[in-house]
Amino acid sequence: MSQSVVWRASVLHFLEDPAKQQGSEDAWEFFEDGALLVEDGLITRCGPSDQVFKNLPAGTEIKDLTGRFLIPGFIDTHVHYPQLEVLAGCGVQLLDWLNQYTFPAEQKFADEQYASEIAQFFLDQCLSHGTTTALVFGTVAPQSVDAFFQQAHQRNLRMIAGKVMMDRNAPDYLLDTPQSSYEDSKALINRWHNKGRLSYAVTPRFAPTSSSEQLHMAGRLLREHDGLYLHTHLSENPKEIDWVQELFPDSKHYVDVYDQHGLLGPRSVFAHSVHLCDHSWQRMGSSGSSIAFCPGSNLFLGSGLFNLNRAKAHGIPTGLGTDVGGGTNLCLLNTMKDAYQVSQLREETISPLQAFYLATLGGARALHLDDKIGSFRTGNEADFLVLNPAATPMLQFRTEKTKTLEELLGVLMVMGDDRVIEKTIIMGQEA
Ligand code: GUN
Ligand code: ZN
Repeated sequence: MSQSVVWRASVLHFLEDPAKQQGSEDAWEFFEDGALLVEDGLITRCGPSDQVFKNLPAGTEIKDLTGRFLIPGFIDTHVHYPQLEVLAGCGVQLLDWLNQYTFPAEQKFADEQYASEIAQFFLDQCLSHGTTTALVFGTVAPQSVDAFFQQAHQRNLRMIAGKVMMDRNAPDYLLDTPQSSYEDSKALINRWHNKGRLSYAVTPRFAPTSSSEQLHMAGRLLREHDGLYLHTHLSENPKEIDWVQELFPDSKHYVDVYDQHGLLGPRSVFAHSVHLCDHSWQRMGSSGSSIAFCPGSNLFLGSGLFNLNRAKAHGIPTGLGTDVGGGTNLCLLNTMKDAYQVSQLREETISPLQAFYLATLGGARALHLDDKIGSFRTGNEADFLVLNPAATPMLQFRTEKTKTLEELLGVLMVMGDDRVIEKTIIMGQEA
């Protein structure tokens, strides 16, 4: 029996990047008295409620959420699930932070039972923060990724993850080898890639922790399977960048290291990309690679201020990443606020509409999933959020005084947190 539910509330989603169409309202659709019709987990209508309610299929259930907002689920384009327990590790920048906090914590994920408990908690927290899709780092232990995918599959989530490949410059207890990383990744791909809503990402941690031989293995995996992602870190911190130049003296720059190993391209997602030279920007653009902009992490670890305008100028699909545990929380509203603050410091102020675009359709485009998620396009998967703009007394006080959509979105972005996320809907079902 087919299942049909109509949700009535204010509805907002994006059709295009509002930055591209400044001064025009064609980039988004907003229906103050709107509705979504969801049939068998897919969006079949989105519009003003009087239109959506015409000739509803027999037996359609009606959910009246007047006063609430429906938006597509948030997309976190870069996050480490094993790093929840190093959140808020203060006092150091990237390379010391990895040694002091991150590597010891990741060791624990060789225990699949432990990994499974943390994966459950992580996914519960993603959902309560409104994140419905994420591109996720596991650890070097393949069982960390089995545990993650198992939990994501049980919840019917659209998730992308992979095993870290790392064969040097880290503690012995976290090292694999080029051959074992190839074999372990291949076995995970065979078990999980394209199973339900899951996809696999080949995940060399970053250039300093992989030999050239291992990076070649990563390229080989990409060539041997269709539809895989490549997920890694790029040009986050000045000391890291100097180290990459020492380790790969024949490369022109950091991007060139990945390029020489066949790792650039559509479906390759590079977290950070804070410090890039002109040629690197060009090559990122010409290769069709994507960037995960991680403003919270870049501020917390003191890495730098990402140049979003430059990414746009080169046509590089860009989404937002929390980068927990370098970032300080799993909240995309908070990450939008951080992105806004970075744009202010750069004197390239983004609008709240642009921030909401980045967290939804922008993320979907960066992951090449915009034919499935990120907007209320007919046929898309019904992963969406019910937002309560009056979730706290302070929010109620402030949002009641807003006069425009943009002002309201600004308040939600700057003052909101997970309390604003009243419900998270996955394939039409309340999670
Ligand atoms: N570079 C290499 N590994 C990591 C990591 O775990 N977090 C961040 N932020 N950067 C990295
Ligand atoms: Zn990261």
